Order: sequence, then C-alpha cells, then structure tokens
Amino acid sequence: MNKCTLLLLTALSVAFLTQAQAQQPVKESQGFYQFLTDDPNQKPFYSDRQGVMARNGMVASAHPDASQVGVDIMKKGGNAVDAAVAVQFALAVVHPSAGNIGGGGFMVFRNKSGESYTLDFREKGPLKGHKDMYLDEQGTPIPRLSTLGHLASGVPGSVDGMVVAHERFGKLPWKDLIQPAIELAERGVIQTEREARGLNNIRETIQQVNKGSTYFLRSDGREWQAGDTLVQKDLAQVLRLIQKKGRNGFYKGKVARMLASEMKKGGGLISRKDLKAYHSQWREPIIGTYKKYKVITMPPTSSGGVALMQLLRLVEPYPLTRWGWNTDSTAQVMIEAERRVYADRAKFLGDPDFVDVPVDKLISYDYLKDRWKDFSFSQATNSQDVSGGAIAGYESMETTHFSVVDKDMNAVSITTTLNGGYGSRVVVQGGGFFMNNEMDDFSIKPGVPNMFGLIGNKANAIEPGKRMLSSMTPTILEKNGKLYMVVGTPGGSTIITSVYQTILNVVEHGMTMQQAVNALKFHHQWLPDKTTFEQGAFTENTIRKLQNRGYTLEMQRNTIGRMDCILVRPDGTLEGASDPRGDDISIGY
Ligand code: DON
Repeated sequence: MNKCTLLLLTALSVAFLTQAQAQQPVKESQGFYQFLTDDPNQKPFYSDRQGVMARNGMVASAHPDASQVGVDIMKKGGNAVDAAVAVQFALAVVHPSAGNIGGGGFMVFRNKSGESYTLDFREKGPLKGHKDMYLDEQGTPIPRLSTLGHLASGVPGSVDGMVVAHERFGKLPWKDLIQPAIELAERGVIQTEREARGLNNIRETIQQVNKGSTYFLRSDGREWQAGDTLVQKDLAQVLRLIQKKGRNGFYKGKVARMLASEMKKGGGLISRKDLKAYHSQWREPIIGTYKKYKVITMPPTSSGGVALMQLLRLVEPYPLTRWGWNTDSTAQVMIEAERRVYADRAKFLGDPDFVDVPVDKLISYDYLKDRWKDFSFSQATNSQDVSGGAIAGYESMETTHFSVVDKDMNAVSITTTLNGGYGSRVVVQGGGFFMNNEMDDFSIKPGVPNMFGLIGNKANAIEPGKRMLSSMTPTILEKNGKLYMVVGTPGGSTIITSVYQTILNVVEHGMTMQQAVNALKFHHQWLPDKTTFEQGAFTENTIRKLQNRGYTLEMQRNTIGRMDCILVRPDGTLEGASDPRGDDISIGY
C-alpha cells in the first residue's frame, strides 16, 4: 500500500468514525446532559420534507383547510390581506387550540411597493384588572388563576384586528372572507390525529371551568378519533353576526352580551364596556438591517421584534457561516446573545402606550456592542451576573402563525394566540368559542415566572386597558429592495429564538426555507440559565465542548417551534415551508 492510499484510508476511517460517533445517541448514563424524556427510545425529530413551490400565491398555515381557504380567496381576486383575514377566521374553526376569535395577535404587512405596516391586535387587561389581581393577601401568586378559568382572559382583539386590516388594505367584500369559516363550522371539520388528541386532553379542564357544557365533546361522549367531524353550530352563528355587522357583531349586541354574562357567571372581569372600548392599534414597524437584509418586524407590545433585531445584530460581527451550523462557536455566541436579550426583555419591555420602551437604543449597534463586554469564549457567562443593560433614564402551549404572499408580492405575516392551548378553557356559552388566558403574559409579580418561565417587572405589570407583553415575532425580510422571506412561529418564549435560527439557517447556512424550518433548534432565555435543545440539534462533541465551558444543556422533551414561512427564490418562485412538527401545510397556486 503506498503512502497516498494509506493517508486516504486513514482520512476516510477518521471521517467515518467521527460521523458514527456523532450519530450515536448520547446515553443518559453518560451524563452529557439531563435526559428529560419519559421514553428512553425517543428518536430525534427528523424530517426531509421539501418546500412547496408556486408562482401566483402561497399560504403557509397550521391547518390544510385554513391554507386552502387562503388560496381560494386569492384565486377569487383577493390580495394577501384578504387571504389572511379569511385564514384567521378559518383557523378559529379548524384549529381551536390556537386559532381564535377570543384571543389576539400581531400582523406585519409589506405591500407590493415595499411599504410596511404593523397592526397590534393584542388583548388588553380588563378595566377592572389591577396589578395584584393574581396574588393572595400575603402577596403570593394563587396557582393557575392567571392561566385557567374566567379571570385569566384579556379583552380579545382578533376580530377588531381583522376588521381594521381589511378596511385599510382589503379588496374583496368582508362577507366573502368570513363565509369559508362559516361553512367549515356548519359543515364540520375532519379531525386530524393531533387535533383529536388535543380535544381529548382538555376534556377534564373544559368540564372544570364550564360545568355541564357539551362544547367540544363528541355527541356520544366517547373520545375523539382522527377522522371524526367536529361541527360548531354556535360558532357559525357568531361568525354570521361578524359577517353581517363587522366589529359590532362581536364587540356589541348579542355576542358581547353572551361574552359579558359568561364572564360574570365565572367570576371574570371582562364587561361590555371593555368590549366596546377595545381597539387595535397601527404601530410603526421596527425596520432594521442585518447585513444586506432589511428586517421588518413587530414593535412592542410584542418583545419579538426588538429581541430579534438585537439577536441578529449581536451575532453580526461573528463568522457564523465559516463556523458552520450549530457548531460550538456558533451555538456559543447565539446562546450568549439570547441570554443578554432576554434579560433586556424582562427589564425594559411592556406596552408602549403605558411605558416608555427605548426601542431605538436597545437595537442600536453601540448599545449592543457594549452588551458583549463581559463575554469570553473560554467560559459561559453566568445569568446571575447579567441584568438588563444600562440605559439612561431607566432604572404552551399554543399559538399559531401563518404567512401569505399573493401574486403581486404583497406579504402578510400574522401570529395569533389564545396563549396556552385552548386558552383559559372557558368556552363562551351560546358562542362556542374559547377565551384566551393571555393575562398570564403580564408579570403577575416582579420576578415570578409565567407559564413560559419568563419573568418581568414594572414595565409589564397589570394595568387596566394595558396590553400584556408578547414574544410573538411575525417578521418579513427584504433583500435588494425586494420581498425575500415571511417568517413566524408559535412557541411562547421560544418564538423569538426559533425565528432567529430560521432566518440564520437561510441567510448564513445556505438552507432552503423548508430545510431551515425542518432543522433542529435550541433555546436559551437568560433565566433559567440553561440551553434546551431538540434531540440531535448538537453533536456529542459540541455538547461536550459547550459543557466544558460551563453551559448547562438540557434535551427538550418536546419539539421546538411550528414555523410557517415563505421564501421568494431568486427566480421569483415562492417556496412555502410549513413545519413537519405539526399538521402545518403550505398550499400555493
Ligand atoms: O404572546 C406570547 O408571547 C404568548 N402568549 C405566546 C404563546 C404561545 O406561543 C404558545 N404556543 N406555543
């Protein structure tokens, strides 16, 4: 054997061994990371799903029926906003855990001429709400009060949001956009396995908060199965009123009376006055650059846009492409950026109508440069040593995201939620729709974590009429002045980091939109001081290197993110990329 062959064989066997090692599951007994799953044979999530290609329009959403509704609206001549409105109402019927009329959300819209707009239709704290409403006399949080039952709901914003978006940008008549949802509610929706399981899982809590209610129960009382049909007659009636009267069909009249009396019955605070007073709000989008990309994203009341801009700009100086996807160095700077950004979130972010949020400062390069000053590659920063930055003058689970692009390249990115899966579990009697439990997104007491482990402070304390802080991050990217990417996901606190990774996967690691969505994810949120990750997101070698530098790594029992994104490819083709982690489907035409 000559020297060359020997070298080649050695190189091949090293490469083979390294690969084999990397593919071996890390065993619990090896103690590399805390093994959280109940199933010792759990396989890593893996998908090689391909993106959906089309030229005239695309909808990426959490449910095939909703995506189809959006495409049908565009085929009838509707634009992306028309399609988005129809999808929002369809999701309220076909995906009741997160799609909603009893919740709220955010919309980022970029029109074909490049002008962008953001609409805040986040829920508001009821007028009778107050800062200590979830605390007992000793000042201790009362378990589940902000998450389960009538007191957990904020004043819903979704219907107003859709009306306002349509009034300003819609083309088709309002009634046409609600009609598909009405038909789905009346005709019934075939349950997927996931949707059936979801309804079975909440059976008990539904009964607990809606005594004697038959909503969302199978007529024979048995468990839901995939393939069953869920008919929602009362919801169809509510949708008919919204179809006929627009905003007034929900915030006034019969539905408002039903909602207020439901609240009264269960000790909730939302009154007819609250409903009448609710208005969504156009806000100035956050627009910033990351390298050659323009990022258009959601300002507060969501923390998502500020955090995303901060995260991207914090890692901008580092050669992520050269280091490679999820290598130790790449992961390290991303994690350290996350630690600092979530500390800022807890300190500074809240409803801009109530508190002064220093958005420009927080996303400025000078400020962000300063945030790196205590960082060293040799050792993880300790979260206890990190607090929100110093700025002068300052001292799940379910949500759903959908993206729409029409033939003219108008683009809509909407994330909407009830907060936890099926919200507060309160179903409005007579209306058949779930109410949110968004009040838990307020900081119910400084330093007390919410259901996503996020803590907050004064900036996000409960006040009447104030909006609770969100992590939702509907975002649109431009490249060379043209529409490039529409992105977003549910996932509570992991929304921000999932959007961040998905963008970087495309722009730094050369993935297609679908590969970026499929790719395994990780997450750090300052406190608790640990990095959670989907099994397989890091090789054993990377895990060891990060642990040697003091990082606590914890494998996640669940998957992270449920992205629905669209990419405009160089030839103008739209690539719809829906997350294989859910029932999500992109449909184009
Ligand atoms: O607004 C927020 O940040 C949360 N209410 C989002 C909740 C969520 O994403 C749950 N989903 N998985």
